[in-house]
Amino acid sequence: MSNAIKYEKIGDIAVLTAQNPPVNALGFDVRKGLLAGIQQAEDDGAKAVLIYGDGRTYFAGADIREFGKPMLDPGLPDLCNRIEASPLIVVSSMHGTALGGGLEVALSSHYRIAVPSAKMGLPEVHLGILPGAGGTQRLPRVAGTEAALDMITSGRPIKAGEALEKGIIDRVTEGEPREIGLAYAQELLDAGAARRAVGDMPAPEAIDFDARYETLLKKGRGQLSPATAMRAVQAACEADSFEAGIKRERELFMELMNSDQRQGMVHAFFSERAVSKLPELKGVAPRALADIGVIGGGTMGAGIATAALLSGLSVTMLEMTDEAAAAAKGRIAGNLQGAVKRGKISADQFEALTNQSLTLATDYTSLANADLVMEAVFEEMSVKKIVFTQLDEVCKPGAILATNTSYLDVNEIAACTKRPEEVIGLHFFSPAHVMKLLEVVVADKTSIDVVATGFALGKMLNKISVRAGVCDGFIGNRILSTYRACADHMILDGASPYQIDKALTGFGFAMGPFAVADLAGLDIGWASRKRLSPTRDARERVPSFPDKLCEDGHFGQKTGKGYYVYEAGKRGGTPNPDVPALIEANRAELEIAPRDFTDEEITRRYMCAMVNEAAKVVGEGIAQRPLDVDMTLLFGYGFPRYRGGPLKWADIEGLDGILADIMAYAKEDDYFWQPAPLLQQLVADGSTFDDLNRENS
Ligand code: CAA
Repeated sequence: MSNAIKYEKIGDIAVLTAQNPPVNALGFDVRKGLLAGIQQAEDDGAKAVLIYGDGRTYFAGADIREFGKPMLDPGLPDLCNRIEASPLIVVSSMHGTALGGGLEVALSSHYRIAVPSAKMGLPEVHLGILPGAGGTQRLPRVAGTEAALDMITSGRPIKAGEALEKGIIDRVTEGEPREIGLAYAQELLDAGAARRAVGDMPAPEAIDFDARYETLLKKGRGQLSPATAMRAVQAACEADSFEAGIKRERELFMELMNSDQRQGMVHAFFSERAVSKLPELKGVAPRALADIGVIGGGTMGAGIATAALLSGLSVTMLEMTDEAAAAAKGRIAGNLQGAVKRGKISADQFEALTNQSLTLATDYTSLANADLVMEAVFEEMSVKKIVFTQLDEVCKPGAILATNTSYLDVNEIAACTKRPEEVIGLHFFSPAHVMKLLEVVVADKTSIDVVATGFALGKMLNKISVRAGVCDGFIGNRILSTYRACADHMILDGASPYQIDKALTGFGFAMGPFAVADLAGLDIGWASRKRLSPTRDARERVPSFPDKLCEDGHFGQKTGKGYYVYEAGKRGGTPNPDVPALIEANRAELEIAPRDFTDEEITRRYMCAMVNEAAKVVGEGIAQRPLDVDMTLLFGYGFPRYRGGPLKWADIEGLDGILADIMAYAKEDDYFWQPAPLLQQLVADGSTFDDLNRENS
């Protein structure tokens, strides 16, 4: 027996208790222990076996840290088959989260009971794989093809009650998993219940799998795991036998396990959890937060206020006039109505949040008791300085003063107060109550407990918080400026905005850069270009066509026209026929003879620009680790999760090839394509961005 599984015999029942905190993942020791436990139960003359987990959960799945390493015997599929084949009656009692391999162990047990709060699911597609221990063969046999396909291709967990309705479990009972499991096993023995193997049940009904395959591929924007998992369910319906279905599942599982997408998604899983665990914050207590002030009730301020209200904080919204304050309340109420519609809050909670937890104000003194004030006013240094000077006067000692600036220098903002150690950047992404990313921007004098409070607030608001240093655009917008510039250069040289958008959605981005610019508003980039214009280097290639669009009053979706034309009531836009002439005029002015680009070249150049700037951001310490950049792009910029992030993508592609391409591009434009010293260093050392992640986590 292994340490991870405790064996006891209570009367006729052998009890196998998993003891592998924190989530009873099915690592080697657990698998070995379960196999030995089943054998011992049979040798001891037990009549039934109970399997359950100590601590917070039944098995939450395979041990993801073992992925990509040689699998030590017994593997999970063999273990599940062995459990199912046991002549004893095997009962699984579930609580917490029975996920992935965990649910597969339960499905190979003969009877399943769960506490009402238990959740179960097959989330493997989110790790770039499919249920590989019989899940795709057993789940459709108990739940039916459609229900199983829904769970397997979406990865969505369900609650015990729904699992009972779907026939996945046999009983839901309140209590401790050990006690209810023992009672159920005894009841089955007393009733003379028969051993019941899911693998012996008839094959489930087939559907039109080919049509479903295409839909899934399209929906996943190139993510392979849901569509491939569907093929495994197809085998459950169509294979000659259960064993043949299991064999097909294994082949498809191995295809995905060996794929780059699996590497990308597992990287995302662990990085998402590592990103807010900063070594410097260990043992640092955050300040208490109950009352928050928000200055400016536009789209951003209203989104921040909504997120704060939904997390239980009281919010004072400061606006310039009563009318503006009422309009802000209208925006917040609109956002909260959305939460009511999605079933996240009740109508009563809506009333309480809008009328009790939210206070409107037009006077700075109303912020005197706030624990943290968040400024979301116009993006202009002089305006921010006026706001912070007033805050410094009215806010209580110990209050945190936060700016939501996207680009401006947080050190300069902090310097206009007498308490720069209490000033921090909290950069939300619009709509702030929806987007998951929060950049916690740490200025030179920000104190460590203020940083810890920024992360604590991010957690309360259910955000993925990333630490960023001060520079123009911090992590995300700085990298965005560079890859956007690369896209503009390709347009000057012959590509079209529409080909670039198509190539990049083909790579897996939710939207291409020009569709994104239309959505965000072209005036934002215009203002930023004007701000940076006096400091530009003469060697920098700056196109004029984006400015021309704005000069003509076309700011993208909000004006109905930008790179695309938007018709009211229709989703998406069609290419704006005026844009090619603007681009051609710009090329003529610069005497550029346009050339053709392939989609591959577009993607390669765009990604090389992104990786190079990201390497500079890490090298300069603006991001502490490569994974901080990866999570910023994943959660704020629509980067495809299955590629893990730009720096994980770079590791998988090979850093030497990327550096070689950057050097080749530099022969055309050695100002833009200056290789990042960190990238050169990693190539010289033969190491990777992931090596850096490991060294710094
Ligand atoms: N393997 C290894 N480590 C795991 C793990 C797993 N399956 N699941 C969670 N962990 C680790 C986390 O990385 C985290 O570690 P740190 O504390 O060092 O960061 C710790 O356990 C706690 O996890 P969370 O912080 O996520 O805790 P939570 O309470 O918020 O969530 C959970 C718990 C719902 C189980 C969540 O961790 C989760 O969704 N885990 C993944 C579940 C999953 O995908 N299972 C399927 C695995 S694939 C499989 O089983 C198929 C197969 O046949 C190969």
